[in-house]
Amino acid sequence: MAIKFNRVDFKYKGHDKKGYLALSNINLSIDGEGEFITLIGETGSGKTTLVQHMNALLVADSGSVDVYGIRVEKEAVKKKRIRLNPIRKKVGLVFQFPEYQLFEETVLKDITFGPKNFGVSEEKAVETAKRVIKIVGLDESYLDRSPFNLSGGEKKRVSIAGILAMEPDILILDEPTSGLDPLGRNALLKVFFDIHEKLNKTVIIITHDMNTVYEYAKRVLVMRDSYLVYDGDPVNLFTTKNIQNWNLDTPDVLELTRRLESDLNITLKTRPRSAAALTEALEEVLR
Ligand SMILES: Nc1ncnc2c1ncn2[C@@H]1O[C@H](COP(=O)(O)OP(=O)(O)OP(=O)(O)O)[C@@H](O)[C@H]1O
Ligand SMILES: [Mg+2]
Repeated sequence: MAIKFNRVDFKYKGHDKKGYLALSNINLSIDGEGEFITLIGETGSGKTTLVQHMNALLVADSGSVDVYGIRVEKEAVKKKRIRLNPIRKKVGLVFQFPEYQLFEETVLKDITFGPKNFGVSEEKAVETAKRVIKIVGLDESYLDRSPFNLSGGEKKRVSIAGILAMEPDILILDEPTSGLDPLGRNALLKVFFDIHEKLNKTVIIITHDMNTVYEYAKRVLVMRDSYLVYDGDPVNLFTTKNIQNWNLDTPDVLELTRRLESDLNITLKTRPRSAAALTEALEEVLR
């Protein structure tokens, strides 16, 4: 198992002594290849906090997280008994707010920073930058620009390119498509799905978009008030009784399927997860 949470609790130390409990008793295992996971839950439920434990940006107050055989726990990090660099190389995390990630004068320097930091030559790093900038849907001319003078969506793409350049085994994206236009959003989702499918990598996406969850995810994690309350497949998720308490939208395709089944008094033979699959399922029944 590439990542394993062992009874993790985490509290943000606030101005008041009490602090703010953001993770409670998290137990979770994630494979290093072949997973496509979406992480959902309402605002403030602990999603960002959870993924920041996966590459040791945050460290559990109690319990531990094993990342590729390295046990990340408070004492070991405090006493510098473990090296965090190998973890960061294996587990790439794209921040929710790209401003936190971009800091160089040019996009090129920003994207090549990571690979060079891990020992890749300048020449190779530039080559990689030219490749990944295209993958995220921007052209090479962006490489000379300042990351600070880009639109929100462009910044987001550049920050994704910066992590892709490091070629991590596990790619984690914290709300990667928020603020993008629908076409751009779908194109990027396709990029992430391709990385997962063609390279057999594990991809974890935090999102508030239930359509994405329903169509793409193989496994869904739901956070609720610092607890992990669901870990399973997306079709079962939307039929569980607890769903009302979790404040999640119903995916459009599921809503439409239910309405069609009731209005036309039919039962589809499959549970379609995309518009195309719904059309096919309808044709089969109405033929
Ligand atoms: N730096 C911080 N200091 C104190 N409390 C924090 C800090 N960051 C987050 N929190 C608190 O911890 C809880 C979990 O935050 P987190 O950012 O993990 O939520 P989230 O599920 O990612 O929310 P969103 O969907 O809004 O991004 C929130 O209630 C938040 O107020
Ligand atoms: Mg968040």
